[in-house]
Amino acid sequence: MNLEVLQYPDPRLKRKSEPVAAITDEILALAAQLAETMYEHEGIGLAAPQVGRFVRMITIDLSGPDKREALQVYVNPVLEPLPPLEGDDDYLETEEGCLSVPDYRSSVKRHTRVRLKALGLDGQPLERDVTDLESICLQHECDHLDGKLFIDRISRLKRGLYDGKIKKKLKAEQADQGLLPEQQAE
Ligand code: NI
Repeated sequence: MNLEVLQYPDPRLKRKSEPVAAITDEILALAAQLAETMYEHEGIGLAAPQVGRFVRMITIDLSGPDKREALQVYVNPVLEPLPPLEGDDDYLETEEGCLSVPDYRSSVKRHTRVRLKALGLDGQPLERDVTDLESICLQHECDHLDGKLFIDRISRLKRGLYDGKIKKKLKAEQADQGLLPEQQAE
C-alpha cells in the first residue's frame, strides 16, 4: 500500500521521531510500505516521519525506482562524521530535492563521509562507513528523523524566496477551493 507523503509546510515534518523499541510485525510492514511509497514517488530515500509515522526508520535505494536493486532499510540510524578518504574534501555540496518539499531543489553542504550505526530489519546491529551520494542521502534522511528538512540548511535568502513561492501557491489553492475571496488570491 502506498502511503501519503506529508508536504511542507505541514508542521508534522518538524516532529522528532522516537526510537524503534523492537522489530515487530508492524515495523516490518511499515518498512515494506515505506519502500513501496518511495518507489511510487520515484525517490531514492524516504524517512518514516514523511508518511506520518514518527519512528526512527529510513529506506534508501540508490539504484532508483526503475531498478529497485539496492534497497536498504535502517532502524534507529546514527551518523558520525568521518575524515574524508585521501584526495576528497571534508564537505560536499550537491543539489538536493525531497518528496516532502514540492517543486524545489537546492544545493546543500554535507559531510563527504560518515559512519552509520543502525539496526537492520533482522534486529542485528550494523556499522558501515559510507561516502559520496550514499553519505549525502543518509544525512538527508536522518535529518527527517530530527524534524529537519534540507531547506533548513540553505541560505536565509533562498529559504525566504521558497517560502514566498509556497505561500502564493497555498493561497491560490485556497482561492480555487473558494476558501478565500478572489481579491486576496492574486
Ligand atoms: Ni527528504
